[in-house]
Amino acid sequence: MGVVSSAVLAKLGHVVIGLDVDEVKISQLNRGAVPFYEPDLTDLVQAGLKTQHLAYTTQYEAAIPKAEVILIAVGTPSAPNGTADLRYVFGAVAAAAEYMADKVIVAIKSTVPPGTNVKIRDIISKYTDKQVYVAALPEFLREGNAVADTLKPDRIVIGATEPAVIKRLLSLHEGLGGKRVVITPESAQMAKYTANAYLAQRITFINQIANICEKNGAKISQVIEAIGDDKRIGGHYWYPGLGYGGSCFPKDVKELSAYAKSIGEGQGLLPKIDELNEERIIKKMNEYNKLVEGFKGKKVAVLGLSFKPNTNDTRFAPALVVVPFLLRHGAFVTAYDPQVKDEAIRLYPGIALADDPYKASSEAQVLILLVEWPELINLDVHKLAEVMDSGAFFIDTRNQYTQVDMKNAGLKYVGIGNG
Ligand code: UGA
Repeated sequence: MGVVSSAVLAKLGHVVIGLDVDEVKISQLNRGAVPFYEPDLTDLVQAGLKTQHLAYTTQYEAAIPKAEVILIAVGTPSAPNGTADLRYVFGAVAAAAEYMADKVIVAIKSTVPPGTNVKIRDIISKYTDKQVYVAALPEFLREGNAVADTLKPDRIVIGATEPAVIKRLLSLHEGLGGKRVVITPESAQMAKYTANAYLAQRITFINQIANICEKNGAKISQVIEAIGDDKRIGGHYWYPGLGYGGSCFPKDVKELSAYAKSIGEGQGLLPKIDELNEERIIKKMNEYNKLVEGFKGKKVAVLGLSFKPNTNDTRFAPALVVVPFLLRHGAFVTAYDPQVKDEAIRLYPGIALADDPYKASSEAQVLILLVEWPELINLDVHKLAEVMDSGAFFIDTRNQYTQVDMKNAGLKYVGIGNG
């Protein structure tokens, strides 16, 4: 989020200095190399460096004193009790405070619970007497689509109450698409959690419906088609699978749930969403284990190791549960992912890695498609059937292929919710 924001704001003509304590990442960024895979981001960073609107540093004294707006975009992992661990937010603010100019705006982009701004203000006041404003600027970009989402957001939410702060934050975003929503910091912070928890709930809900379809012969894709035109519901953003992953939904649902509990609203839907999502992959893998008459001794191709397409982020990726399950059940696993390479060697020492999906599937009795990477949703199924064992299973956890096509190719197709 920090790299994307810095590069987009530089493109808008602002002078941006990106600060991080990781020297390796900062020197990579200053050379125009983005240390993770995100489409279009490298070009944007390089353009910013070239125009000298963008630079990166590890030095607070280089980045903070001249800043009119300081965006805090550090991580907020979940603490063991599920609440947001705010130590990086507080640490960054404390380290920056002594260098802050008068009337600077500290805008929190990290996902934090309501009430955090007061704590931040208290921390800052320990280090400086200057007037510092604290605002909330929640971020709604998706990984893999981060540049497009930032350039053309549906909305930009500004959580601030002082007119001068609102004015400066509105002007900071001038040139970007989308509606502006100016609300209180608490509402902005709640909006962020609400958006992620709602989307996570939507995915969990459709996965429950898919489970029912698997029992009664209905097809989940047809169910979605039949209700998607109802404008109150819509057909978007609830394709079923093995559950939601990534660095945001699992964490944010847990955090909102723990935060709700801490203020006496802990019962109800939120903990259930998390519980259903957590148990889903193992449940499905147990079903698949029965279906293929045991993974033991079978060669299994796993396609897709990231948590979703167009990113090399593996946090809460389905493969993190699927691969160990397969190994525990005695399978020989060969995997392929378009972008997860070196990390796959580190994460999965017990498996073989292939350079393409067909090599990964060679002589396999089972193929499990985990991520709908563009290159993995247009596979030549006849070529696959040729390289795989005869009558092999194709388990499509993203419902990208059809029963008919697979049958014609001679593969046994298994979709989610009957495809
Ligand atoms: C999510 C939100 O979509 C962003 O708006 C938000 O800014 C971000 O979290 C964040 O808080 O930083 P992201 O985690 O990058 O973005 O990815 P999504 O595309 O939303 O997917 C999340 C998970 O849900 C993935 O595991 C994906 O496979 C799954 N998913 C998504 C489904 O299973 N079905 C769907 O229909 C959509």
